[in-house]
Amino acid sequence: MSTHGLSAAQQKMRDAGVAQTAIDVFSRYYQQLEEGVTGSIPEDTISPYLDPPRLEDVTIDPFQAKEAFDRLAIINLNGGLGTSMGMDRAKSLLPVRDGRSFLQIIVEQVLAAREATGSPLPLLFMDSFRTREDTLAVLEEYPDLPVGDLPLDFLQNKEPKLRADDLEPVTWDAEPDLEWCPPGHGDLYTALQTSGVLQKLLDAGFKYASVSNSDNLGTLPNPVLAGWFAASGAPYAAELCPRTPADRKGGHLAVRKSDGRLILRDTAQTPEEEMDFFTDEHRHPFFHTNNLWMDLEKLDAVLRAHDGVMPLPMIRNAKTVDPSDKSSTPVYQIESAMGAAIEVFEGASAIVVGRDRFLPVKATSDLLLVRSDVYELDPKRALVQQVPSAPTVSLDGDHFKLIGDFDARFPHGVPSLREATSLSVEGDHTFGRDVVARGEAVVGPEDPAQIPDGTVLGG
Ligand code: UTP
Repeated sequence: MSTHGLSAAQQKMRDAGVAQTAIDVFSRYYQQLEEGVTGSIPEDTISPYLDPPRLEDVTIDPFQAKEAFDRLAIINLNGGLGTSMGMDRAKSLLPVRDGRSFLQIIVEQVLAAREATGSPLPLLFMDSFRTREDTLAVLEEYPDLPVGDLPLDFLQNKEPKLRADDLEPVTWDAEPDLEWCPPGHGDLYTALQTSGVLQKLLDAGFKYASVSNSDNLGTLPNPVLAGWFAASGAPYAAELCPRTPADRKGGHLAVRKSDGRLILRDTAQTPEEEMDFFTDEHRHPFFHTNNLWMDLEKLDAVLRAHDGVMPLPMIRNAKTVDPSDKSSTPVYQIESAMGAAIEVFEGASAIVVGRDRFLPVKATSDLLLVRSDVYELDPKRALVQQVPSAPTVSLDGDHFKLIGDFDARFPHGVPSLREATSLSVEGDHTFGRDVVARGEAVVGPEDPAQIPDGTVLGG
């Protein structure tokens, strides 16, 4: 198709000062995109991964755990924009509870863990060109946060969005910033290297990293996990959770038959006609949380062995150049997933953790739940679930999907959900003060547009 497209994109990246390694990574994926690589992983090429170790069975000598904790850095992925919730800024800036945002709560979790253990626990955010400024402004509130001369963040790379019709870099004069995108969280490895942060961490004596998403408030720094990871000697490990019938999406690990390596398979890599296998929680009983552990020395060695280009499978993400305008030019964003690196590390491992380490906010229904009284923030700044099982929440896609619409419909805070098993809202409604949902609470299209103060839904 378009060799011209590749050289034009490379030139555009060079002109913008993008690091050569990031251009090499992009070019490798571009060629795959042109060749029509699908990255499909058929069921008969893998065996289910059935017997990972479980955190609940782990006992670690506290001295060993402390030793690992002392050499642990916390990396938080903060480059995404929450476009599925209609955001064009970091999702982590959203307030969650007590007026505190995801970002503030994550910082406070790390500060509390430092205070409790005396370990240095440097916290580094991976920002993108769209999230850096806002994030650093918030971090200024925490003068004790920096550790030595380590930075508080590092910047991920950027790459041109490509026109879907001819794979040329798109031009968008109305807002030239929108011609660029971050290359997905698989860019972590390239960004750690091109920013010099990997070397800085190694030079400062940090050997391990725990990595997680800024939209997951469940990943408090955990000495037992750190101790387990250090004792395992593995170069890399993924945290998994047992799958319930409701967890039909998240990727899963599997053993590749051809070489016995653990691999990550996501929805996009599963052939359409095999989705029944993918979603079968008995066949593939654990899902991948995107909480990872890495041995930084071994990561450095792997990157050197691959000339800095981590060979991750390419993901073709079809969008429009202006995500808020579905009639704007169709583009592809070439991305990769951080967790796919499991196949690159010989001896990579995994561990099953409790659901408390997985509280992702992907949609406004998740946000409603973490803002509700189902959770309380404890002194460690952990969001602690107050009921045995959290209710399921489903909100009308037309009126609640985008964050602005959602916030406008809960001007006085979200309903009490502690006594609810589910809440379903259909139609356009604005909620008054002190609304309580009980049992299987339903708000239907025929219910009033304004739900009065003190309403009890369900029963
Ligand atoms: P998601 O893949 O869920 O994407 O990111 P997102 O960007 O938050 O949301 P949508 O898809 O636009 O709605 C998982 C984590 O990875 C980070 C995000 O900030 C989030 O913490 N991320 C994602 C990056 O740091 N960089 C990226 O390029 C993409």
